[in-house]
Amino acid sequence: MIKRFIVAYNKSFYFMYMANIAIAGATGAVGQEILNSLAKKEFPVNELKLFSSSRSAGNTQATSFGPYILEEFSIEACKNIDIIFFAVGGDFSRKYASELLEKNDKIIIIDNSSAFRYDKNIPLVVPAINASAIKNSRLIANPNCTTAILAMVLHPIYKEFGLKKCIVSTYQATSGAGNPGMQELLHESKNYIDGLPVENKIFSHPIPFNLIPHIDVEQENHYTKEEMKVTWETHKIFEDDSFPLSCTAVRVPIIRAHSESVVIETKKNITENGGLEKVREILINAVGVTLRDDIQNNNYPMPLNASEIDEVQVGRIRKNLVFGDFGLEFFVCGDQLLRGAALNAVEIAELVKI
Ligand SMILES: NC(=O)c1ccc[n+]([C@@H]2O[C@H](COP(=O)([O-])OP(=O)(O)OC[C@H]3O[C@@H](n4cnc5c(N)ncnc54)[C@H](OP(=O)(O)O)[C@@H]3O)[C@@H](O)[C@H]2O)c1
Repeated sequence: MIKRFIVAYNKSFYFMYMANIAIAGATGAVGQEILNSLAKKEFPVNELKLFSSSRSAGNTQATSFGPYILEEFSIEACKNIDIIFFAVGGDFSRKYASELLEKNDKIIIIDNSSAFRYDKNIPLVVPAINASAIKNSRLIANPNCTTAILAMVLHPIYKEFGLKKCIVSTYQATSGAGNPGMQELLHESKNYIDGLPVENKIFSHPIPFNLIPHIDVEQENHYTKEEMKVTWETHKIFEDDSFPLSCTAVRVPIIRAHSESVVIETKKNITENGGLEKVREILINAVGVTLRDDIQNNNYPMPLNASEIDEVQVGRIRKNLVFGDFGLEFFVCGDQLLRGAALNAVEIAELVKI
C-alpha cells in the first residue's frame, strides 16, 4: 500500500507518498545503481524487496537502506509492491510484465530492458524531455543508455535550432554489458599485463587495449541493433522522426561512462542566431547537463570525470567544417549506469509515485 505523509520543501508543506519498492536484478550493475539513486534522492521508500535469480537468492546484500536478504523473483512476492524496477533483461521483462500487471492492479513497472521500448503504446521516457508521455501508463520503458545520454544534450539544441541531420559515434564502456562486462575488462587486462592468455566470453573479441566496433547483433541494413536503438529511441523520445540519425557504436576498454562524438546539421543558421555562445548558454541552462568546454585548460568531458556523476557532460563545442553555419560538433560523456539507466528510472518513479 502507498502511504501518504507530509514533508516540508522550500518552507512549504506538501503531501508525499511512501511507496513499497522492489528491484528485480538488484545484484546487477543497474540494480545496484537504482538502490544508490533511491537513497541519494531520499526517495520515500516504505518497504523494499530485492529480487535476484535463484543463484543469488538467500544472500545478504548491503545497501544504503541497510542489509537485505535477496529473494528469488516471483509474481506472488510482488503482492504489496507499488513500484518495481525491472533490471534483468528483455526475456525476463517479456515473460513477467503482463502477468504482473494483471495480478497486481496497482503496480507500476519501470523496465530497463529493450523489451517494450518500440511498442507505440508504451511510453519511453527521459523525464527532462518527455515526462508527459507517461500519462497513466503502468508500464514505462527506460531508454537505451547511449540514447539517454545523447538526448539530454541534443534536445535543448534541437528545441532552439531545429535538427536536419545527426551523426553519432560512440565509445561505450564495458559496464554497458553489466557486471560481467566490467569483470572481463579487469580480469583480462591483468592477464594481458602478466603475459597470460587473454580470453573473451562477454565481448566478441578480447577487450583489453582494443576497440570493438560491434555491439549487439547486425541488422538487415548492416547497422547493429545497438546503433539502431539510438535512431529509433531518439525519434520516439523527441516525438519527431523527421531528422535522419545514424550511429556507429564501439566498445572501448573503459570501466564506466559512455562517450559520444556528435555532429549535427541544424535547420536554423547558428552563426546568425547567437553562434557558439548561444549554444553554450543553452547547455549551461539545460537540466542534467554540465558544460566542460575549455580546451585551453584541458577541461572537457572524459569517462573518468563523468563516472558516478548524475549530470551528462558536454564540451569540444565547435562549428562543424562540413555543415558550416548550420553545423555543430561536440563531445558528450555520461555515466550510463546512472543517466542511461538507474537515475533515469528513479526520476520516472518520482513522476509516477504521487
Ligand atoms: N549496464 C548498462 O549500462 C545498462 C544500461 C541501460 C539498460 N540496461 C539494461 O538493464 C538490464 C540489467 O542490466 P545489467 O547491466 O544490470 O546486467 P547485470 O549486471 O548482468 O545484472 C543482471 C541482474 O539480473 C539478475 N537476474 C538474472 N536472471 C534473473 C531472474 N531469472 N530473476 C531475477 N533476477 C535475475 C541477476 O541476478 P543474479 O545475481 O542472481 O545473477 C542480476 O542481478 C538489462 O536489460 C540491460 O540491457 C543496462
